[in-house]
Amino acid sequence: MTHKQIALVDGDGSGPEMMAAACRVASVAAKKDGIEIEFIKTPMGWNAYSEYGDTLPKKSFDKAIELGIIFFGGVGDFEHDSTIGVEKPEMKPEARVLLPLRKQMGLLLNFRPMIYYKALASLANVKPETIPEEGIRQNWIRYLLEDSYFGNADLMKEIPENIQKKIGVKIKKDVLGDEALVSDIAYYKRGSLLKYFRAAFAYARQQKLPLISIDKANVLARYDYWRKISIEVSKEFPDVEFSSQLVDSAAALLFTPAKLNGVIACGNEHGDILSDGAASALGSMGMMCSSAVNPDTGAAMFESGAGTAPTIAGQDKANPLGRILTGAMMLRHIGVEKGAVAIEKAVNRLLTEGYRTGDLYTKADDSTKLLGTKATGEKVLSYI
Ligand code: IPM
Ligand code: MG
Repeated sequence: MTHKQIALVDGDGSGPEMMAAACRVASVAAKKDGIEIEFIKTPMGWNAYSEYGDTLPKKSFDKAIELGIIFFGGVGDFEHDSTIGVEKPEMKPEARVLLPLRKQMGLLLNFRPMIYYKALASLANVKPETIPEEGIRQNWIRYLLEDSYFGNADLMKEIPENIQKKIGVKIKKDVLGDEALVSDIAYYKRGSLLKYFRAAFAYARQQKLPLISIDKANVLARYDYWRKISIEVSKEFPDVEFSSQLVDSAAALLFTPAKLNGVIACGNEHGDILSDGAASALGSMGMMCSSAVNPDTGAAMFESGAGTAPTIAGQDKANPLGRILTGAMMLRHIGVEKGAVAIEKAVNRLLTEGYRTGDLYTKADDSTKLLGTKATGEKVLSYI
């Protein structure tokens, strides 16, 4: 057995319950390929604040970076946001934890494959007739750096103070609420765009799917640039079908999902918004899986796109399947292909056999059976 250490962030809300299930499933599945995973806890989020006075304790951050692979249970909950978060907004974990990790690890590529489960068709928000017999293949790849997420933190020091004032640039923790003008600086760099599109086209080639690039080239300068680079890189991949799509019309296409079959390249902010829409159109946010990868170093973070379900924390009710499927992405990344396939098959089987957590369950459908978080994990395990 090869030994592999992975940083584990249990997270806030229902995170720890969902991650307990996901870690168990990933550990057992990894053994199929001769890998023994050791999860090293690196607490982050409001739960870490209670113990260390910081939502991003330095020790956790350093260890996670050192290990280079993070299994991430999600951070943030409304209760802490509306209490400690009001006094210390700089501690709010979404920005404090996620953005530095992404930046420090250089996580440029955010893979969000949308898996359409026939068994969950009744939950999809699109009309059933919009789903073709062969299903849907939407593989989102979001550009996870730069854009409007990092501009102020990255460029602040380069902008003279009088200009900062004039254009209202502040970093999040300095925003008080009584300013007359606040702006985020959004940008894309040529080098990262080239790297991003080369990875996106290679992924499309490997998946035998067209590449659909989403932008707002008709209005915004950074997306005019985005389009130019996407066209430039498309010439290096003549065998990959390529098209550009404006973000507003792409949003409308979420309701006819087959029109977005492909690898979908999109900016940081566009990708954040559209991928939630795509997941909810096709089924449930609770099923979304996601990985963030540095294409040069292989450093990666595995965080399901769904939230932390704080309102049902500690009640054994949250849906762990998004985390479990994200675990499969993690296994594939570290070379555990058989284990990853086993997890994906097991989840499909569990849903086909009618097992559902509360978010997927409807009383009216008597072919389904309600399961808690833990039992869902055990059921998946029993199929592996
Ligand atoms: C996501 C989340 C994050 C993002 C937040 C929590 C910072 O919404 O991963 O989609 O906007 O990137
Ligand atoms: Mg999001």
